[in-house]
Amino acid sequence: MRLLFIGFGTVGQGLAELLVEKERHLKKAYGIDFSTVGISDMLKGSLVNAGGIDLAAALEKAGSGEKLSELPGEEFTGDALEMIRTVDADVVLEATYTDIKTGEPATSHIRKALERGMHVVTSNKGPTALHYQELALLAREKGVRFLFEGTVMSGTPLLNLLRETLAGSEVLELKGILNGTTNYILTRMEEGLAYDDALKKAQDLGYAEAVPDADVLGWDALAKVTILAKVMYDAKGDPFDFPCEGITKISASDIVEAKERGKRFKLIGRVWKEGNLAKAAVAPEEVDMGHPLAGIMGATNAVTVTTDTLGDVTIVGPGAGRRETGFSLLIDLIEIARKD
Ligand code: HSE
Repeated sequence: MRLLFIGFGTVGQGLAELLVEKERHLKKAYGIDFSTVGISDMLKGSLVNAGGIDLAAALEKAGSGEKLSELPGEEFTGDALEMIRTVDADVVLEATYTDIKTGEPATSHIRKALERGMHVVTSNKGPTALHYQELALLAREKGVRFLFEGTVMSGTPLLNLLRETLAGSEVLELKGILNGTTNYILTRMEEGLAYDDALKKAQDLGYAEAVPDADVLGWDALAKVTILAKVMYDAKGDPFDFPCEGITKISASDIVEAKERGKRFKLIGRVWKEGNLAKAAVAPEEVDMGHPLAGIMGATNAVTVTTDTLGDVTIVGPGAGRRETGFSLLIDLIEIARKD
């Protein structure tokens, strides 16, 4: 399995660490023999090597701020799109930053990779929220997979649950905490930390988006409910067609007062259907302390899926983080290896 890393930041490095750590297990358990033939990164430089890049060495370079081009192989001077256009690989790992409004440059990367008959695995919410149907169709036409487990709940396998494990069920509604950064901020504010300090900590821990406005204004959760609405109900349209409010209007005193009333603020994302129309929304809600979602703290996410077969099924797990999102890409790689 020849891999092309497009973006070698938090998520790309999270996956690389897992691939190094689990190399032997992946071969033994799933027959996966991977080789990294290219890495493209705007800050760390770009490198190709048809014989395989040493991922452990690439991680060391990235960690010490040195250029990847110092490693054995050839320095690649073109951009990411050029690498996808010219380097032959089996799977393109798209892990560049998310732009929820334009979906670029990731959408162009994914389109090009699929057009060239390469599988695509991504944790990038922009292209998936904006263009899921188009990209899924293109992948089908080309006989390859377009997988994006990490776009929602990082490595906690909600999309897998909907696609595989709950297959045959009708999902009547889905609701939960879908953004780790805001849940972390609300948790730390309840403990007395100021908003700015809590946000800074979420950034340091690798939870926040490159531009954290996307988290605190609710856009990240909005992209996730849009992806879910498209996957579950074939919803059309853009994320900003759905109502969205973030946590920026919630003050420390609001949090304290809510607690005195036996409530806790949570940023809640919902997806449901009215007749044939798919609906989605993101907004802060005062959740009753007795409700299971009230106890979800820190960067943890939780989603309750209401089905016609089992009633409510709740999945709880990490919603952000380097290793956690890296793992989401690994889930998709294993899925490709199993079904290829
Ligand atoms: N910024 C996102 C979050 C990362 O905090 O949930 C995972 O999508």
